[in-house]
Amino acid sequence: MTVQEHEIKSKPVGSVLVLGGGIAGVQSALDLADSGFKVYLLDRSTSIGGVMAQLDKTFPTNDCSMCILSPKLVEAGRHHNIELLMNSEIKEVSGSAGDFQVEILKHPRFVREDRCTGCGECAANCLVRYESQIPETESVREQIQGSELQKLDSILKKHEGDPGALIPVLQDINDEFNYLPEDALRYVAEILNVPLSQVYNVVTFYTTFSLTPRGEHVIKVCQGTACHVRGGARVLSEIERNLGIDAGETTEDQKFTLETVNCLGACALGPVVVIDKEYYPTTPAKIEKLLNKYKKSDEGEET
Ligand code: FES
Repeated sequence: MTVQEHEIKSKPVGSVLVLGGGIAGVQSALDLADSGFKVYLLDRSTSIGGVMAQLDKTFPTNDCSMCILSPKLVEAGRHHNIELLMNSEIKEVSGSAGDFQVEILKHPRFVREDRCTGCGECAANCLVRYESQIPETESVREQIQGSELQKLDSILKKHEGDPGALIPVLQDINDEFNYLPEDALRYVAEILNVPLSQVYNVVTFYTTFSLTPRGEHVIKVCQGTACHVRGGARVLSEIERNLGIDAGETTEDQKFTLETVNCLGACALGPVVVIDKEYYPTTPAKIEKLLNKYKKSDEGEET
């Protein structure tokens, strides 16, 4: 036998059909394709990835599921031994082991797969339009009280016409009310014409925003590395002891809200505390005097 004949004989021959384009199907297709088989990867849906593509984390390690899955999807999509048969299903299987014939029904996609670049223009220009199925709801405006509505309107007017107005508007509302009331968020979403989910995305991303009422004075204690090694944790305990609350809580009289942050950008001064945007490099021993300053100034205002 010549070397060429040996190579041809030892190469895998035939083709394999893998059913299901989930993570198991994709991995099987890749393994078979890497072994030299021609692989047809068939799935009823219009894309590979399956349920795993819809997950955020994987059990039990809490790894990001897309970080595991997406390199495999790209590899499967580009592998020269893999042919994707999406939007397809099996009609009939005949034959016997080693010689199966499979009849596949491929549903129409209405786009040329070989020309599609995923630009989305076809969807934007589609002549078929669907009416929204979401029932009309009463405007949030009716549910907001007079003075609150006036404040919201003046904030929204200030940022009128600004395409990136969402964050500045939320900052102004947060400053005005000391937190972001639910009605205000729904009103902002309605007026700026952005989905409420997007508003909540922004609000929950930045720690500067609060969804619960805060105290008159907001105390932020830095727990970043630079402050931590210089006693940031002891400063926090001293404030908690003095005010009788834990981090994340507000005093009963609504005077102080205590929060922790990971860096206040003043590492050289650590440990640092910020009260109402005023920076204080401090120590546990100085806390009482510092807080008294705010307690007394409030008492002075009341008398
Ligand atoms: S770590 Fe505290 S200010 Fe940077």
